[in-house]
Amino acid sequence: MSKVNIPTFKLNSGYQIPVLGYGTFLGFNDKNEFDYSDWDKMLKTLSYCIDVGYRHIDTAHLYRVEPDIGEVVNRKIKEGVVTREEMFITTKVWQHFHRKADVEVAVRGSLRRLGLDYLDLVLIHWPMAISVEGVDEKIDYLETWRGFESVLSKGLVRSIGVSNFNVEQLKRLVANCKVKPAVNQVELNLAHGQKELVEYCKTQNIKVTAWAPFGAMIASRALPDAPAPRVDDPTLVAIAKKYGKTVMQVTLRYLYQRGIITIPKTVTPSRVLENALIFDFELTPSDCSALAKFDVNYRSSRPTFWQNYTNYPFEKYDVPEEAVPECQRKWKDGKTNDKME
Ligand SMILES: NC(=O)c1ccc[n+]([C@@H]2O[C@H](COP(=O)([O-])OP(=O)(O)OC[C@H]3O[C@@H](n4cnc5c(N)ncnc54)[C@H](OP(=O)(O)O)[C@@H]3O)[C@@H](O)[C@H]2O)c1
Repeated sequence: MSKVNIPTFKLNSGYQIPVLGYGTFLGFNDKNEFDYSDWDKMLKTLSYCIDVGYRHIDTAHLYRVEPDIGEVVNRKIKEGVVTREEMFITTKVWQHFHRKADVEVAVRGSLRRLGLDYLDLVLIHWPMAISVEGVDEKIDYLETWRGFESVLSKGLVRSIGVSNFNVEQLKRLVANCKVKPAVNQVELNLAHGQKELVEYCKTQNIKVTAWAPFGAMIASRALPDAPAPRVDDPTLVAIAKKYGKTVMQVTLRYLYQRGIITIPKTVTPSRVLENALIFDFELTPSDCSALAKFDVNYRSSRPTFWQNYTNYPFEKYDVPEEAVPECQRKWKDGKTNDKME
């Protein structure tokens, strides 16, 4: 079996994080409900990932797959494929658990569902606090962070971080914390390069993880107004050809050379290998400059139903007010049958 060798970055907590992880969010269908159609495929692909050498898994309470992820990881540990120490498991605390005391409830819930006794990294999934009824709880993320510092000091997690925080929110957090976040996980791809955020994070020794590293490159996932590039973009194709690599490999390599961690999601085993075979070539500065030109600050995922909530981190769009989709509020009978805990 082919094997991959994924390097690590050192976090400000002292722990090493593999620079490439496996994303486990299956997304929503056109009714805005969780899409479980690829659930089986995803678990088989995850198993394959661990067999070939992936050690970093990105999940979240929201994704409803923690029990299944835990089952695969624990099986691989039992089979002797990997040890717990070699794995790096990230999960995220959902918006219903932003009170200081609730953070521990959420983290203990994730540990139970995953069948683990510690987590490598836990993130505040979003800066907004929203109740299961969809009410704006207006809880300051500084309070949530106190809960994160507490679960860290209790040894339930090894590193703590945030997700979807903008620069101002991160600066305020850094100015008012005992423990700095180790990571900020945000949408980041060729069209949304997050230059300012990445530069600020560098000054603070905070690592940036890119979600949706392919952004709108895949035509079927692109909104009608999405700018270039797509996978057949001539500039990308020419660069890829020069190195004997694919366009996706060039994209992931470019993000790696910017010091960014990526967590592409795929349910296709051949892509698991493709995405990890990026550590045997180096893009030249002129190729990097050509790739940087695609950055037009374009957000491919716009959760506008949250835009009027306190601490919403992004620019607002002029769209009619919508309710938060129910599947992102109350836990419905998803795969995990996990209502609220
Ligand atoms: N913190 C947050 O708020 C947040 C938000 C969204 C996502 N995330 C995390 O980030 C992860 C990745 O984000 P994402 O799933 O939105 O976007 P993504 O990884 O950029 O894109 C996933 C899509 O890319 C395709 N793909 C993967 N590798 C490919 C390759 N080599 N060639 C062609 N197509 C390829 C996949 O297809 P197939 O599956 O069909 O192969 C899938 O359609 C998620 O799984 C989740 O863990 C976090």
